[in-house]
Amino acid sequence: RRKHRERLLELLERTAAFYVRFLWESTEAAPARQYLVDRGLDEAILREFRVGYSPSAWDKVLMASRKGGFSNRDLYDAGLAQKAKGEGRIYDRFRGRIMFPLADIRGRVLGFGARALRDNQQPKYLNTSENDIFHKGRQLFAADLARAHAARAGEVIVAEGYTDVIALHQAGLRNTVATMGTAMTPEQVGELTRLAPRALLALDADAAGQEAMIRAAKVARGKKLELRVVELPPGRDPADLAAEAGAAEIRRLVEASVPFVKFRVQRALATGDLATAEGKDAVLGELRPVFAEIPASVLREELVSDVADRLDIAETLAAQLLGRGGTAP
Ligand code: UTP
Ligand code: MN
Ligand code: MN
Ligand code: MN
Ligand code: MN
Repeated sequence: RRKHRERLLELLERTAAFYVRFLWESTEAAPARQYLVDRGLDEAILREFRVGYSPSAWDKVLMASRKGGFSNRDLYDAGLAQKAKGEGRIYDRFRGRIMFPLADIRGRVLGFGARALRDNQQPKYLNTSENDIFHKGRQLFAADLARAHAARAGEVIVAEGYTDVIALHQAGLRNTVATMGTAMTPEQVGELTRLAPRALLALDADAAGQEAMIRAAKVARGKKLELRVVELPPGRDPADLAAEAGAAEIRRLVEASVPFVKFRVQRALATGDLATAEGKDAVLGELRPVFAEIPASVLREELVSDVADRLDIAETLAAQLLGRGGTAP
């Protein structure tokens, strides 16, 4: 069993190297190289992340692996091949996509995230399916590359996606990892606490990303992890912003991160109905459990004041309706 696992890891490593060579050396990958240039990603950072390209043919990885002495079973078990329904024909799972190797904390490739070149191609990202080696919910993308930097900085930046991480590393923010989707798992929170005592959440500034940060805070509740939020312009993600506004601007936004509770209060005020008394009561009801965990502090007073202003009620009333806070730490 252990031997089989080592064998699969070797196959995954070789395949990652194969995709890298194919990206930089093949004529077929010219549009992929152009796509990456257009997204503002440099060759040096792409090589560091071992980004590659999978041939559009049905059997290139299959053939190369067989030549290297690997069996069909190895290919299935590594998540690199699949079978056509009914017949026994086996073919490459990843074809004509930009390949992001997904490595563990030690840098060993366990699977791949594969992006379509065109935005109308579905799915946008095809990932390795859950198997004995790869469990998406247990991994943080780029944990291996970010680890030393996160330890030194005492904080880890958490993005959603592969390209966000690569763009942030290129901008000099080397302590960045990604959840690879929107729902943070308890295992991922555990990984974060091992990387640093503080996490700066830089998920997409769309409804899904904002809700994901609120859920992430629930998962991280009671864990030794201080949460802050990096506020991005509406609708953007870190990669968009790095490409549009540049490295200095994204670094400035990360520097200006706010405590999670401040983000949480702003979100309730932004999504609530502040035009009616019932709407205001609903916002206060939503925020009461949030305030229950904020100890008496200047920050708490500031947030109470913000709520009072936005609801157009007296501060003493806001303080009373928001209830008592937690005890000072
Ligand atoms: P996003 O939809 O925000 O994609 O999903 P993105 O990272 O901004 O991708 P680009 O910029 O269009 O290339 C965030 C992350 O969720 C996972 C991927 O890890 C992605 O990076 N995801 C998303 C999938 O696994 N499958 C999908 O179809 C979409
Ligand atoms: Mn998103
Ligand atoms: Mn995104
Ligand atoms: Mn994006
Ligand atoms: Mn005021």
